Amino acid sequence: MADLQLSGREAPAVAQDGVWLACIECGQAFAPFAEVIYRCADCGGLLEARYGEYPTWTDFSGRGVWRYAAALPFDSGVSLPEGDTPLYEVPGLREDLDLRALRVKHEGMNPTGSFKDRGMTVGVRVAEEVGVSRLACASTGNTSAALAAYGARAGLETLVLLPTGKVAAGKLAQAAIHGARVLEVEGNFDTCLDIVSDLANRGEAYLLNSLNPFRLEGQKTIAFEILEDFREEYGAVPDRICLPVGNAGNTAALYKAFRELVESDSLAADEMPKLTGVQTDGAAPLVEAIESGNEAIERWDAVETKATAIRIGNPVNAPKALPGIRETDGTAISVSDREVTAAQRALAEEGIGVEPASACSLAGLRKLRERGVVDGDERVVCLTTGHLLKDPDAAAAAGSDPEPVPGDTESVLDHLAE
Ligand code: F0G
Repeated sequence: MADLQLSGREAPAVAQDGVWLACIECGQAFAPFAEVIYRCADCGGLLEARYGEYPTWTDFSGRGVWRYAAALPFDSGVSLPEGDTPLYEVPGLREDLDLRALRVKHEGMNPTGSFKDRGMTVGVRVAEEVGVSRLACASTGNTSAALAAYGARAGLETLVLLPTGKVAAGKLAQAAIHGARVLEVEGNFDTCLDIVSDLANRGEAYLLNSLNPFRLEGQKTIAFEILEDFREEYGAVPDRICLPVGNAGNTAALYKAFRELVESDSLAADEMPKLTGVQTDGAAPLVEAIESGNEAIERWDAVETKATAIRIGNPVNAPKALPGIRETDGTAISVSDREVTAAQRALAEEGIGVEPASACSLAGLRKLRERGVVDGDERVVCLTTGHLLKDPDAAAAAGSDPEPVPGDTESVLDHLAE
């Protein structure tokens, strides 16, 4: 079982400026920037960034991701800038779902249109510190778009591996125009990640998938923003946060933010919002592990869903995310592609444009509410992770069809009267 306790940890000799990496399985500590490692050199476990001190609410100042520098390994980095995303009210949906409060945190409003930018600004800063020339990732699309843009801004070469034919048009276009070298790999995302991890281990590139613990440091700021906004508005943190799950990096990042606030006595352990992960029926290994009570996930070799961003059968961050869901008394649920499209439309009716994977959070919430797992007395946040324009084909298919008309006003009026 992963050891995710932060408390009582003394900075080891390898720490630099109060930061180090620790293996979540065996506890071994590693220098954070002196060498490039993505997994424990002793046991292969996932690594987590640790600090000598964890921040309190008053340590945060400024804007965007770097407002939370007190919880990050550096004070600033290549920025476009990212974070400060809206926490929309959705009165129609709140009433429909009969909840005490419902907010939508739209991460699609980040510079490249997804939450990945938060991780990338920190990850690229670390890459600069380590001193690498080429950045790389495997991606279902959004990570590659963010990597390409932040790499370009930093003047670094970028390489992305994508599953052939399974990446939405907007994301591919972003990677291409920002100058990434794009390799289309025969196989799914998990194959791409296996290969790019090998390349990184051979020193060919610096890996910026969420296996890189510093990416997740940046993504913690989603939780800090939500909690700060809620405390201001409601005087309390949300009861539950629903989010789509692919590699489970975001779930792990949110949980780490909660733990850090608990560590600094800024949040009570029993106040941590219930992390509620949502996958689609065609790619639900994490839901399977939660439902069966298994300690580890079993890799799904065949995965399929219209929510291509989370078409993932082997969530690498599961050892961090499963304890997060369990310790916060959360849950996980899978939804059908049809339910995803319905939720995408429901959000669009509130003026919020999201890509299919993002709509999972709402689709999952609706299902859990119908089943009585989510109580009407709860204040809930749905995280929408990517912008509608990321996947224009899915949006067009989910929306109404354009109507052809002749090119004169009378014909248009006739048509409208039909
Ligand atoms: N939502 C969107 C829009 C995503 O792009 C992803 C992941 C997720 C949710 C899942 O987040 O992996 O932290 O559980 N996309 C990755 C990519 C895999 O390559 O862009 P997670």
